[in-house]
Amino acid sequence: MNAPNRSILAAVALAGATVLLAGCWERPPIDSVQRGFRGTGMVEVVNPRLNAAVFEANQAPPSIPGEAAGPPARTVYQNLKVLGDLDVASFNRLMASFVTWVAPDQGCAYCHNEANFAEDAKYTKIVARRMLEMTRTVNGQWTAHVAQTGVTCYTCHRGQPVPQKVWFVDPDGTGSDKFAGWRYGQNAPAAGVGLTSLPKDPFTSYLLQKGEIRVAGNDPLPTDHKASIQHTEWTYGLMMHFSAGLGVNCTYCHNTRSLGVWDQSTPQRATAWHGIRMVRAMNNEYLTPLTAAFPPNRLGPTGDVAKVNCATCHNGVFKPMYGAPVVKDYPMLVGPPPAPPTPQAALVREVLIVYFDVGSAQLRGIAPEVLAFVVEKLKANPQAKAAVSGYHSASGDRAANAELAKQRAFSVAGTLQAAGFAPDRVVLAKPQVVQANVAGEDPAARRVEVTVR
Ligand code: HEC
Ligand code: HEC
Ligand code: HEC
Ligand code: HEC
Repeated sequence: MNAPNRSILAAVALAGATVLLAGCWERPPIDSVQRGFRGTGMVEVVNPRLNAAVFEANQAPPSIPGEAAGPPARTVYQNLKVLGDLDVASFNRLMASFVTWVAPDQGCAYCHNEANFAEDAKYTKIVARRMLEMTRTVNGQWTAHVAQTGVTCYTCHRGQPVPQKVWFVDPDGTGSDKFAGWRYGQNAPAAGVGLTSLPKDPFTSYLLQKGEIRVAGNDPLPTDHKASIQHTEWTYGLMMHFSAGLGVNCTYCHNTRSLGVWDQSTPQRATAWHGIRMVRAMNNEYLTPLTAAFPPNRLGPTGDVAKVNCATCHNGVFKPMYGAPVVKDYPMLVGPPPAPPTPQAALVREVLIVYFDVGSAQLRGIAPEVLAFVVEKLKANPQAKAAVSGYHSASGDRAANAELAKQRAFSVAGTLQAAGFAPDRVVLAKPQVVQANVAGEDPAARRVEVTVR
């Protein structure tokens, strides 16, 4: 080979290598932060240049200034269910803040009929009132997670009506009715789990239901300890979500020589443990019960409401907005602290929902897992009963629909009774609120509600 040819080849090889490497390399500077004791490998690699962009995107907005003044809002306005005791000046300041946090482009009209502010005609106002209660609960009762830093509506909404990072139940997640070629809800990169090919919905099991986030046994040798492959994959999917959602790696919480042990983990793992319980409470007690309030275009493929995970608040940062004490200027967003535990506290009302296909009373999708959760609750509390109510959507024949709703309730009640509960612990109940007959074939309406209390 002569000289010019060789240099052309070398240039082509160099160009090829550059293209290959450009995809893998991160442009310096690269820095590292020590997270644990020296020699434990508990180090996080960071790039200050990339962090600067994330920093930019996670700044807290300025608080709207104002002093408390005027009589209680209750004496001036007619329809206050949460903020009645707040003074009028602070009330108005909060309404103005709602606009900047949630609906800057739409203004007051996003939640109100501006001809009558007291009216509850818009679903957004109904949702906002419940969100207000949720925010007060998070700041008042979950200080083990949010400390005095707290959250406002902006923490999740970031100036948009729908928070950017939410999740829905994956319709492909489970089921035995699928054929070859089905990906089992995984095996393709998914944003929620850090672009890995792990299951894209570890959230239903761990951030809605109380699945055990547990992989490792306590003994070095094989024993009767069992964690299914499914739960192991879900656990790793959830952990990738934690890492991506907080912009950290595994050593932020674990000493990776033994991921399970708590006494070698960092204090942040304990904060995360409380966070998991807090997110479950938000999804079960606030968002899921709002399902019927939302219009169909806001619901997910299985008819469920958009729900919260770690990224909803954290948005890629270890503390939302780098720990800016956002609630300091909004004391009305801090609800009362938790009441001391009483035997009655164990009996709190809880509604779980099972969805159905069009015209069908057949249990499908995650229904068996939801019902397993009901069984667990009934077992845990021998006094509790499950009330089962069937619903249907608006389209089709009325009499046939009423029968369908009943059959749906029977499938659910039958499954629960088959788990060994006496018929008086699983009772059929007349539906409380029938969905307004406006939406025709509505996935959110094709449901059975199970109330355990
Ligand atoms: C994100 C939704 C949202 C936005 C935006 C919003 N509000 Fe409200 N507003 C509410 C909720 C929820 C209540 C009821 C609070 C309660 O029940 O304690 C309320 C209540 C009120 C009331 C009391 C009405 C009565 O007589 O009961 C007034 C007045 C009011 N808002 C004015 C405004 C004004 C003015 C704006 C724009 C600057 C605004 N709101 C923006 C959600 C919103
Ligand atoms: C922990 C996160 C979180 C916080 C804090 C939060 N929200 Fe939300 N909000 C959500 C999620 C999730 C939804 C459901 C998204 C959707 O609308 O589909 C939602 C929906 C809404 C909607 C309905 C929007 C629409 O167009 O469908 C309104 C209005 C709203 N929130 C107001 C508020 C107000 C006011 C506050 C503060 C008092 C607040 N939110 C605090 C997570 C949050
Ligand atoms: C923000 C903190 C946090 C981060 C980051 C994190 N984890 Fe976890 N991890 C936890 C918590 C908390 C639990 C226990 C959950 C529980 O008990 O409910 C846990 C549990 C686990 C378990 C199960 C342990 C057992 O007892 O069987 C494994 C495995 C695991 N994590 C692996 C990882 C991996 C791998 C990464 C990085 C991809 C990671 N974690 C990142 C907080 C974290
Ligand atoms: C409602 C909003 C919200 C949600 C949802 C949320 N967090 Fe947090 N988290 C916070 C706030 C606020 C802080 C700051 C508390 C403080 O200043 O100590 C925080 C702090 C933390 C910390 C401590 C960081 C440190 O360096 O001390 C960890 C770890 C953490 N969150 C993990 C999680 C995980 C894991 C999830 C999901 C299971 C989650 N968070 C969901 C609001 C939230």
